[in-house]
Amino acid sequence: MHTPILVPSLLAGDHANLAASASKVEQLGLKWLHLDIMDGHFVPNFTFGPEVLAALRRAGSTLYFDTHLMLDEPERYIEAFAKAGASNISIHIEPDYDHAAALSRIRDVRCQCGIVINPGTPARAIEHLLPLVDLVLVMTVQPGFGGQSFRRDMLPKLTQLSTWRKARGLNFRLEVDGGIDPVTAAECRAAGTDTFVAGTSFFKAPDQAAFAAAFAKL
Ligand code: DX5
Ligand code: ZN
Repeated sequence: MHTPILVPSLLAGDHANLAASASKVEQLGLKWLHLDIMDGHFVPNFTFGPEVLAALRRAGSTLYFDTHLMLDEPERYIEAFAKAGASNISIHIEPDYDHAAALSRIRDVRCQCGIVINPGTPARAIEHLLPLVDLVLVMTVQPGFGGQSFRRDMLPKLTQLSTWRKARGLNFRLEVDGGIDPVTAAECRAAGTDTFVAGTSFFKAPDQAAFAAAFAKL
């Protein structure tokens, strides 16, 4: 079992000063930063591209860049995000492309790889890919926007995935994303989750150190 980690999502940071938002995360002693990449097609919104990752690296960030690609054709952008400084690249199962080949390309460019499933997609859709990934990201909201409510009906999916992980001797991190705060994180933790993305709840927390400490105790 992996130790639980809090992964702040930069989507809820200050887009006029993303380096300051990232360094706040680093100053708290956290190790991972979640980066949401949206293309206006797979999801109805835009965020930022590889240039922003590269700029954060130039500004000195040594955080583990957990890169969540919400793109119709993620396989076209693997090299660009790896070159820009991604540590992990996670790709969705829903668009039609060769998922296994894309995961292998992510490894070829020396990044860790993850597979992501939307709320409407059952766990069995990614079952065949589980031995190939470092991380499975279960969306606990419909992707595209921060600040939505946690979907409690995703808990059985988390239980299913953590049961398969144990039964098959696999070692992927199980990550949740969307509507996560200390209360919903505890529910996900009970279902086997170890990696907790938090955007709004982290950046709006009046005391971010106390907020991070709550996750360390999960
Ligand atoms: C949503 C993104 C999330 C987002 C979560 O499409 O994938 O990473 O930042 O935001 P909160 O934590 O506010 O639900
Ligand atoms: Zn995300």
